[in-house]
Amino acid sequence: MWEVAGKVAVVLVLGRLGWSLLKGIYGTFLASILHLNLNIKKTGEWAVVTGATDGIGKAFAFELARLGFKVVLVSRSPFKLQNVAAEIKSQHGVETRIIDVDFTRTDIYTRLEDELSGLDVGVLVNNVGMSYDHPEFFIDLPECSQTCERLINCNIRSLTEMTRIVLPGMAQRRRGLVLNLSSLSSTIPAPLLAVYGATKAYVSSLSESLSVEYKGKGVLIQCLLPGYVVSNMSKFRRPTIMVPSPTAYVRSVLRTSGVESHTAGYYMHKIQIYFIELAKAYLPGWVLQSIVFHQLSSFRLRALRKKQKENKAQ
Ligand SMILES: NC(=O)c1ccc[n+]([C@@H]2O[C@H](COP(=O)([O-])OP(=O)(O)OC[C@H]3O[C@@H](n4cnc5c(N)ncnc54)[C@H](OP(=O)(O)O)[C@@H]3O)[C@@H](O)[C@H]2O)c1
Repeated sequence: MWEVAGKVAVVLVLGRLGWSLLKGIYGTFLASILHLNLNIKKTGEWAVVTGATDGIGKAFAFELARLGFKVVLVSRSPFKLQNVAAEIKSQHGVETRIIDVDFTRTDIYTRLEDELSGLDVGVLVNNVGMSYDHPEFFIDLPECSQTCERLINCNIRSLTEMTRIVLPGMAQRRRGLVLNLSSLSSTIPAPLLAVYGATKAYVSSLSESLSVEYKGKGVLIQCLLPGYVVSNMSKFRRPTIMVPSPTAYVRSVLRTSGVESHTAGYYMHKIQIYFIELAKAYLPGWVLQSIVFHQLSSFRLRALRKKQKENKAQ
């Protein structure tokens, strides 16, 4: 009897592993090779990208322009916006518009609504986001109350309001794609990045619910959960197999649109999430919590030491 139970358990585990592997290969490679993913170009004329002057957002703006979209670049610094718009125009020859707003503020949405009204927006990339300067204990965050408010406005309010503004037109036209940047950190406890992790969990939850609400109305809502990608925010400077460049990440994501509604978007990050899910299913919670806490504690100490050195040098 125990022998049969053991064999059934092995078959179940191997079956689950095989199924996940097949799903991963299909979503990452096969679907786009067979053109079964979304034909993004058919969603509309314009793409709107928030946080479009650096990192993942900038890569989305360039990639969507390369596909032929006119692009609305929404970000904080007018000078950087003008530079990115000029680069896109010279590389891809498409029309661009720029909107300079600070997403930590709450009084910007009437202007955004006015500037976007009447545009045939096919793709909205809710990319803008901020994190802590370095991992830190909650009550030791500098100006804790204001910092939390800024994080919530930038990571949660921005995405909710931008979706509210753009979605009605998409639903009316019965076509559109909304890409929401969550994070792998929303799938695990994020000690020392608690508020950041919690804002990203909001993004995941809202995206999943909206994706069900709007699927029948022709609008796809896709939630992205990247691990580390080279950028100012991640502080990773060189791409590796685990940490792709923003362009490599974005190209990989666009292959999955219409196939995976909740995805890491990049194959190595998908494998990371797969092992996280296994750990959550089969190990006690404290194991994963301790691993993350240990890693982020070491990042925190390194950042504090660097700051100390910089202060001494001044
Ligand atoms: N990189 C990663 O490893 C990683 C991993 C998981 C999730 N993510 C998520 O991916 C998204 C993009 O991250 P990233 O690493 O590409 O970030 P990034 O390199 O720091 O770029 C952020 C972009 O957002 C703009 N921005 C920042 N604060 C703003 C504000 N208050 N108002 C308007 N624009 C603002 C920045 O403009 P300025 O140029 O003016 O600063 C910049 O264009 C974020 O939502 C992040 O949480 C990133």
